Amino acid sequence: MLAGKRILLIVGGGIAAFKSLDLIRRLRERGATVTPVLTRAAEEFVTPLSTSALAGQKVYRDLFDLTDEAEMGHIELSRAADLVVVAPATADLMGKMAGGLANDLASTLLMATDKRVLIAPAMNVRMWEHPATQRNLATLKGDGVLTVGPDVGDMACGEHGPGRMSEPLAIVDAVEAALLDGPLKGKHVLVTSGPTHEPIDPVRYIANRSSGAQGTAIARSLAALGANVTFVTGPADVPPPLGVKVVKVQTASEMKEAVDAALPADAAVFAAAVADWRVANASGSKMKKDGSGNAPALEFTENPDILAGVSQMKKDRPKLVVGFAAETDDVQANATAKRKRKGCDWIVANDVSPETGIMGGSENAVTIISDEGAESWPRLTKDQVAAKIAAKIAGALA
Ligand SMILES: Cc1cc2nc3c(=O)[nH]c(=O)nc-3n(C[C@H](O)[C@H](O)[C@H](O)COP(=O)(O)O)c2cc1C
Repeated sequence: MLAGKRILLIVGGGIAAFKSLDLIRRLRERGATVTPVLTRAAEEFVTPLSTSALAGQKVYRDLFDLTDEAEMGHIELSRAADLVVVAPATADLMGKMAGGLANDLASTLLMATDKRVLIAPAMNVRMWEHPATQRNLATLKGDGVLTVGPDVGDMACGEHGPGRMSEPLAIVDAVEAALLDGPLKGKHVLVTSGPTHEPIDPVRYIANRSSGAQGTAIARSLAALGANVTFVTGPADVPPPLGVKVVKVQTASEMKEAVDAALPADAAVFAAAVADWRVANASGSKMKKDGSGNAPALEFTENPDILAGVSQMKKDRPKLVVGFAAETDDVQANATAKRKRKGCDWIVANDVSPETGIMGGSENAVTIISDEGAESWPRLTKDQVAAKIAAKIAGALA
C-alpha cells in the first residue's frame, strides 16, 4: 500500500506517455499522492489537462513558472516527495540524467532531488540497445537509480524487442518495493568514507589512494534497507549516493568533528581511509624554494583516532561499530589485532597491496572479523560487498 506516500512523476516524451495516465490512476488507487511533471515533448503525447484531472493536482511544466513566490520552487518540488518516478524515461532523459544536464524542469528536478529515483525506460529497440543508452543505464545504476523494465514485445514503431515500458501495475510494484519499510527503518547509521587531505600549506596536502567507492556503496545499500544514513565523506572520487545526509570534510580533524556531531547512531561504519598523521608545522602561506637546495623538514603529529574514540565511548556508544583494516601484510592477523586495540565490534579487513587492484578498483575481497571469528567472502564487486555488509548490519540491529 502507498497510503500517505508522495510521488513526483516525471513524464517523458515517448509514445508510452499515455500509459503514465493509467499509472497515475493506479498509484492513487493505492493511496499515493501524485504530483505530475510533463516535459515539453510529453505534452505532444498527453495533455496537461488530462494529466492534472487524473492526478487531481496541478501539472508542473516549466522551470521558470516556479519563480513566482506563490509557487513551489524547483528545489522544494524535487524534495517534497518520497520517491521520484520517471515514466516513460526517454533515451533523452536518461542521457541528461547520466550526464548531469539540467536545462528544463524535469532534468533540473532530477539533479536537485535528494530522494531515490525510479525510472521506467521506454524507447525503440535500437535506441535501447544503442551503446550510448546502455552506457547511460550503467552510469545511472551506479548512481543508485532504480529501474523497472523495459519489457520485451511488439512496439508502436512496428519493431519487436526490448524497449516497451513496463505495464503500470509492474511500475506500481516497483514503486512499492522502493518505498518498502526496510529492516533498517528508524535506525540511524553513520558511515564515513573516502580519504582525508592533510594540508602542508594552502595549496599542497598529503592524501591516500582511497576512492571512497566502498564506503559510498555501503551508505547506498544501508539507505536502500531503509536506514537514515549520515554520510561523512572526505574528498572522494565518486559522488555521494542519493537519499543520505551528506557531510563533506577535508581533514581527519574535521571528520572527527562531523562524526561527533552526527552521533548518537544505532550503528557506525568507519570505511574512510583517515590519515594517521597530519603536518604539525603546516604553513599558513605557500612554501617557496629559497635557492639553498634544502627541502623543508615536515614534522608530523598524530591525528585523532576516530574509530577507537567511538568504539570506546562510555555513554551513547553505537550498538554496532564497524571498522575497516586496509592491510598489505598479514591481513587477518593485523586486522584481528586492530579490532582488539580499537575496541570495535567488527573489522572489515582487505588486502590493499597494489597487485590486488582493490584500492581505487571496483572489486573487493574482504574478511569480516568479529567475536564469532573470521568470515572470508569471495572476491565480489564493491556493490555486492556493500549489500552483504548492509544485510549483516540489519541482522545485527534486529
Ligand atoms: C512519435 C514519436 C514517438 C517517440 N517515442 C519515443 C520513445 O518511445 N522513447 C524515446 O526515448 N523517445 C521517443 N521519441 C523521441 C523523443 O520525443 C525526443 O527524444 C524528445 O526530445 C524527448 O524529450 P524529453 O526527454 O524531454 O521528454 C519519440 C518521438 C516521436 C516524434
